Amino acid sequence: MRKIIVANWKMNASLGLIDHLIPPLSTCLISSRHQIYLCPPFPYLIPLKKALINMSVHLGAQNCHTSFGGAFTGEVSALMLADLGCEAVIVGHSERRTLFGETNTLIQEKTTAVHKAGMTAIICIGEILEARNTGRAIETVVAQLHASLSGSATPQNTMIAYEPVWAIGTGLTPTEEDITAMHTALRKALGNDIPVLYGGSVTDKNAATILTLPHVNGVLVGGASLKKESFEGIVRS
Ligand code: PGA
Repeated sequence: MRKIIVANWKMNASLGLIDHLIPPLSTCLISSRHQIYLCPPFPYLIPLKKALINMSVHLGAQNCHTSFGGAFTGEVSALMLADLGCEAVIVGHSERRTLFGETNTLIQEKTTAVHKAGMTAIICIGEILEARNTGRAIETVVAQLHASLSGSATPQNTMIAYEPVWAIGTGLTPTEEDITAMHTALRKALGNDIPVLYGGSVTDKNAATILTLPHVNGVLVGGASLKKESFEGIVRS
């Protein structure tokens, strides 16, 4: 079945990485049955766009400002990203929430800005380990979902990425039952067809299984999207 695969390169990349990764993966990217989004750091959007020419791979960014322009030194607006050819923006990643103090309210505003610029918002939500260990994972994540979604969200302009914070970059993943339970709860809470992706230590070894779980519409991949063999394995899943 056609799923969504989002690659989040985080603050990793170089022109050399694009040369190393994209040409060898071109056949696999072109022939993939999945919908693929690559989200590099801002400076690599244009070089990546050039490397992806004639491939139906979507370009995405990892963050944006809530305003469309103005005196905000060092910031990048959703409108600028759309101007460059971006089709999606990741908002509310747990690293932004934890390291940069982003709140649900700010994430909601960023989501609205992404929508106004005509792009898809990929909204990240997920529980910390303590919530998981105390049996409060679902209630925590559903509350985060409601607080981060903006009124402008539709199945055409929004995706949700469920990423347990303790699974990001750790090699740990929830059990298949736990992923299914969370995705079932999120689907029910959404009450519509907004795609819900799973993220957190997705690799070429576990992607195929995760993608077959009920209500999992795709995966958001961090570390494994930077390695040719592992990303190829995920795209072929
Ligand atoms: P990971 O990161 O795949 O390296 O765990 C996922 C993410 O943070 O989006």
